[in-house]
Formats: sequence, C-alpha cells, structure tokens
Amino acid sequence: MSVEELSDGIFEIDLDGRKTLATKNIMPGISVYGERLFREEGVEYRLWDPRRSKLGAMVLKKFEIPLKYDSTVLYLGAASGTTVSHVSDILRDGLVYAVEFSPRTMRDLIQLCDQRPNIIPILADANKPLSYAHIVEKADVIFQDVAQPNQAEIASVNSKYFLEKHGHLILSIKSRSIDTLASPKKIFKDEVHKLEGGFGVEFEVLQRKELDSFHEDHLGLVARMFVDGE
Ligand SMILES: C[S@@+](CC[C@H](N)C(=O)[O-])C[C@H]1O[C@@H](n2cnc3c(N)ncnc32)[C@H](O)[C@@H]1O
Repeated sequence: MSVEELSDGIFEIDLDGRKTLATKNIMPGISVYGERLFREEGVEYRLWDPRRSKLGAMVLKKFEIPLKYDSTVLYLGAASGTTVSHVSDILRDGLVYAVEFSPRTMRDLIQLCDQRPNIIPILADANKPLSYAHIVEKADVIFQDVAQPNQAEIASVNSKYFLEKHGHLILSIKSRSIDTLASPKKIFKDEVHKLEGGFGVEFEVLQRKELDSFHEDHLGLVARMFVDGE
C-alpha cells in the first residue's frame, strides 16, 4: 500500500491496486458515515467517498484545494457533516464553522461536533450572515454546498462579511436548484458571471469544472476574492 499526500491533509492511497482518497482520522477508531478505516505505519486513515462529497469529487477532478492544516473555514450547507468531517481531519490546527439551517440535520451535526473539537456548529440561514456574525471570525476559505436558487449571491454576501483579503471560495453549484429546464452550461455561465462582480464583491475564478461522473449537473469552482484597488 502506498500513501501520497496530494495537498495539506489530503491523501491518495493505493489500496489493493485501486487509488482511493482519504484523510488522516483525528478521532481514531471512529467512522463517521460508515466509511472504511485502515492503518498504515501507525496512522489511521478514513476513506473519503467522492460520490458523497463535492469537495472529494473536486480533489479527484484535479482541483488545487486551498485548504491548509491551520486554515479557518466557513462551511455553508454542512448537512449532517459527511464532508465537514473530512475538512475537520484536514484542518488539524485549524477550525471549521459549519452552517446548516435544517434543525433535524443539525442534530446529527452536533453529535459529530461532540467528537471533533475543531467544528463549530451554527444553526442559521446562510442568506442571513449577520445572524452569525457574532460567532464567526474571518475565514481563509469559504466552502459552499447549498442547494438554493441564489447560490452566487449567498457565496458573495458571505465572502463580503467573512472572507479574508485574498481568501478563497470553493463552490459547488447545482444547476437544478436554480432552474430545472435551462441548460446546466448556461446556468453555470450566468452564476460565474454573477460571482465576477454581481453582488458587490469580485472574484477571480482560478478553476472550474463540472463534477459529472460523481455529481450530475454540478459545477465545482475555486476562486480568489479581489480587493478594491489591488
Ligand atoms: C447538498 S447538502 C450538503 C451536503 C454536505 N455539504 C456534505 O457534503 O456532506 C445541502 C445542505 O445545505 C443546507 N442548506 C440549504 N440552504 C441553506 C441555507 N440557506 N442556509 C444553510 N443551510 C442551507 C440543506 O439543509 C442541506 O443540508
């Protein structure tokens, strides 16, 4: 078995002749969503299923993921924490603020946070960033995976309040949440256009690719926020 670190805290592992994605388990012995655990040279890894995680799919689609061991991350659309748990593994010296607006789902997320001290759960609507401004500090990275019609707007408004100067946005855009009839390519183009200045903040899009074969009708995107006058 060979282990290669692709970027901070993200590993590609050759397991029985198959390449798989994994993170180092910061809570050894505990599997979060039924994923396989395995040890190599005294370190426990958790397999990361790209079909259950847009971020995992983005790694396999060769995005450069701007997460560092000590990043502060604002995660919008945490659900019960499948991907958040891997972000928590990656940020061994960092922190993730996990925003989710469904009380039912938040109950599962809170159980995960009981095990993982670097996740701060926030029950809130990502359309209302001022409702959590007293909790969240400036973030190096905003990750967003909310199935909403105004995805570019939510990302822009949160970035305006919480993203560090030159911070990164990692965004998953689901076309069917915006329009079920229009072509996904047209929807992606319009959403990217909005990100490039539509809501009072501007992003430079660094990478964008569709996540098909893992998540149909989804676009993955990594962007960096512009700062006035620079
Ligand atoms: C596709 S799921 C996220 C899956 C999760 N990112 C993962 O990979 O484990 C989208 C989540 O966003 C949440 N959501 C949708 N709109 C939201 C909003 N305005 N504010 C906060 N959460 C929202 C939904 O309740 C749902 O749990």
